[in-house]
Amino acid sequence: MVCLGNICRSPIAEGVLQAQLLKSRIHSVTVDSAGLLSYHVGEQPDKRAMETAVRFGVDISHQQARQIRTNDFSEFDLLFAMDQSVLNQLLSINKTAKFHQRIHLFLEYAGYPEGSIVPDPYYGTLKDFEECYKLIEHASAKILKRMIENGLK
Ligand code: 4NP
Repeated sequence: MVCLGNICRSPIAEGVLQAQLLKSRIHSVTVDSAGLLSYHVGEQPDKRAMETAVRFGVDISHQQARQIRTNDFSEFDLLFAMDQSVLNQLLSINKTAKFHQRIHLFLEYAGYPEGSIVPDPYYGTLKDFEECYKLIEHASAKILKRMIENGLK
């Protein structure tokens, strides 16, 4: 899960998919998140992200922001970008065609219309975080369903 700061959207997405996998008793998937920026490295998720997630039953307070690294492209089968700008930057950081196939817009992979993005709530209100959470939760369930249909156990 990749966003800009790794303190709002991608930590929520990591926590939510992880929780859904656990609930489905699937232990074969490693979920992680990272940001494009180094600015927040080492920090906990944004307070509003933690508060919102815990209100919906997902604790993300143990997470620590990190920056995307070269190895992520080979270590992870799928990389999900939260918006188009993140997607474009991921594609330009790593120019290997083989790895480009692994990079998707999070919402597109979940079956939303082409170009759909998870809006950045960082400069928004708690309500924006709640909307962000609900969108991610809905999309994440669709991604899990798609993975299970593709044979994930
Ligand atoms: P995120 O939100 O990409 O969802 O973690 C942001 C967090 C911090 C900044 C931008 C977006 N920032 O510019 O510091």
